Amino acid sequence: MKNSKPDTESAIPGKRLLKAPPQTETAVAGLPRDAEAATEERELDWSLRPRLLIEFVGQERIKKVLGMSIEAARQRGEVLDHVLLSGPPGLGKTSLAHIIARELGVNLRSTSGPAIERAGDLAAIVNDLDKGDVLFIDEIHRLARAVEEILYPAMEDFELNIVVGKGPGARTMKLAVKPFTMVGATTRSGLLSSPLRDRFGQHYHLDFYARTDLTEIIQRSARLLGVAIDGEGAAELAARSRGTPRIANRLLRRVRDFAQVNERPIIGREVTLAALELLEIDACGFDRMDRAILSAIIDKFDGGPVGVESLAAAVGEEADTIGEVYEPYLLQEGFVARTARGRVATQRAYTHLGRTRRGTLL
Ligand SMILES: Nc1ncnc2c1ncn2[C@@H]1O[C@H](COP(=O)(O)OP(=O)(O)O)[C@@H](O)[C@H]1O
Ligand SMILES: [Mg+2]
Repeated sequence: MKNSKPDTESAIPGKRLLKAPPQTETAVAGLPRDAEAATEERELDWSLRPRLLIEFVGQERIKKVLGMSIEAARQRGEVLDHVLLSGPPGLGKTSLAHIIARELGVNLRSTSGPAIERAGDLAAIVNDLDKGDVLFIDEIHRLARAVEEILYPAMEDFELNIVVGKGPGARTMKLAVKPFTMVGATTRSGLLSSPLRDRFGQHYHLDFYARTDLTEIIQRSARLLGVAIDGEGAAELAARSRGTPRIANRLLRRVRDFAQVNERPIIGREVTLAALELLEIDACGFDRMDRAILSAIIDKFDGGPVGVESLAAAVGEEADTIGEVYEPYLLQEGFVARTARGRVATQRAYTHLGRTRRGTLL
């Protein structure tokens, strides 16, 4: 069995970063980056993904409003208004897209912004949809401009503008398509052009999960994976999952490996803590990169302010990855603050790393 080997090396991204930083796809903090581990991760995501709205834990307001609009569309026999889902990686955007299609009882066609190279490719996909189908575009902020423009009339009037011919003789032909629901997901809704954003009738922003929700998610995943974990173990894991279900699931699996190798039939608090220590996940759920970011701000930039590019260079990570993957949680938990001139480390960061702020007595 592949999982029985504790794959601690790949589980610790910081270890790999001692060498040249690898080019990542959208990385998630605390997650491995090599291809095999990424495939494992996708499989885990897939097997644990909630299928229906009632299985989707937390995000109560979103579930209520979205559930109502799905129900209303279904009752009226109408096509659901386009939905934009935003928020950091691993919080459930892809899950929700699939849930929407399932709850509506329609097909889902899935693609992503960077995958669509030419406007014609997207036009072909849209033209193929049946009435009411969901078109899911992940990382929609990364659509090429020319591709994006195909979407405006398609979303607004269910029409494709096809250019026929070349040069002065070129003409635009309008081609009607069947009404469909577009579901876009993005980690950076701020990068969406306003014409695109305006065409979404509903926008839901996913926030980091509360510990109680994460505990519930861990218990649900443990049931699905056939893992025995007690309440204290689940609560401890939840506290260290950076508010992120995908990280919670991933840590659960690593802790399971650890418990198995150490012949512990039930995952309790003690096993959890020992496993997390091995994984170098600290009491706040931070991994080596989180700590590297905080200590770089403090040690190399005198507490900040520092721009994200300089910070990225200092820790050997891509600026986008810092901005999309690491920073949101550090900001939300108040370890880093954003100012007009860049990022600064807060008192919490100093305390967490056991540092004293220069010039202050502590
Ligand atoms: N609300 C939730 N309830 C239960 N599990 C969740 C929830 N949100 C996310 N997950 C779990 O986290 C994993 C990652 O979610 P995903 O939808 O792929 O996130 P995103 O697309 O935002 O990166 C899913 O496979 C699922 O197992
Ligand atoms: Mg996703």
